[in-house]
Amino acid sequence: MLKNALPKIVTGQVPGPKAQAIIERRENAIPGAIKCVYPVVIERGEGAMIEDVDGNAYLDWVGGVGVLNIGYSHPEIVDAVKEQSEKYFHGMFNIVTHEGYVSLAEKMNAIVPVRGQEKKTFFANSGAEADENAVKIAKAFTKRPNIIVFSGGFHGRTMLTMTMTSKKAYAHGLGPFPDGIYRAQFPYLYRSPAQMSSEDAIAYYIDSIHRVFEESSPAEYVAAIVVEPLQGEGGFIPAPIEWVQAVRRICDDYGILLIADEVQTGFCRTGKMFASDYWKDAGAEPDIITTAKSIAAGLPISAITARTEIMDSVKGGTIGGTFCGNPLACTSALKVIEIMERDQLDKRACEISEIAFNRFDQWKKNLMSLAMLEELEL
Ligand SMILES: Cc1ncc(COP(=O)(O)O)c(C=O)c1O
Repeated sequence: MLKNALPKIVTGQVPGPKAQAIIERRENAIPGAIKCVYPVVIERGEGAMIEDVDGNAYLDWVGGVGVLNIGYSHPEIVDAVKEQSEKYFHGMFNIVTHEGYVSLAEKMNAIVPVRGQEKKTFFANSGAEADENAVKIAKAFTKRPNIIVFSGGFHGRTMLTMTMTSKKAYAHGLGPFPDGIYRAQFPYLYRSPAQMSSEDAIAYYIDSIHRVFEESSPAEYVAAIVVEPLQGEGGFIPAPIEWVQAVRRICDDYGILLIADEVQTGFCRTGKMFASDYWKDAGAEPDIITTAKSIAAGLPISAITARTEIMDSVKGGTIGGTFCGNPLACTSALKVIEIMERDQLDKRACEISEIAFNRFDQWKKNLMSLAMLEELEL
């Protein structure tokens, strides 16, 4: 069984001949701007393992960039999607209601830790679309034009989200960009200014939000502050909980909505179903949460969840789309959540993290003793 196999290279070199031929066809047929850094052409995937077209077996450390928290081809998900596919693939939600959409929205309302008792959810197709929609509903609710995002943040590649994204390599030569997006500094405690205690560093980073209010957009014009609870693309940097609490206070003081972009952190990635569950425990739930990636084990769907009061402020016709909430993807997502809850994959993530951290610590100690030995020899 591939799932339990060990990595193995059977070709003399990588990529093997079949993979090489497909990679060459890829280069001829597809824009080079869609980069691929790994010479792997997948034949099938199971659990955390990939087999390529030449029979090489790889342990996939990337997980489809945060999409496969439940692994490749989970048999229960395959069965559920197969069963749904025999009934219908599509039923545009503005035209016909399908129960999977409703059931998934109900489930998300029950588990997504946004502020408020009554919640609503709607679906889009990708993380970027979810973030765009979150900004749209924040603007509709607050009737304000601006948003604040952070250094190191990644929110996608649509026109709005690439403007929200910090790294300008993603937007090179593509301007002009949408207006009303202002950037504050993300709290990167490891790299905070020299000699600063973490308390001082948090105050320093919070001040950077106040500076946006003073120098770029008065707080009364800000609809939302958009935060990744743990920056992914930015370097796997967690937002310290004390900083989140301070941001929550700013939002409450000025009537700004707090949006957590959980596209990458959701679905057991951080040891809880959502990273915002940690925020909730600290009394700092966001107002809107966006999710995507691992929600449906690889089928394209994303979600936007907020309290009813926010959702119902949006005018008819301004949200939705042809494929949003696709029936196959809804079926897959419902099964993913059922399995994650049943098998307690949040706890499993913590167990794996403990094993990994212990091993990393051991490597660090070994490296340090090696460096000391080398120093002695010098
Ligand atoms: C935090 C975050 N937000 C948004 C996105 C964009 O998601 P998508 O590529 O599905 O549009 C990503 C993708 O990596 C992400 O990590």
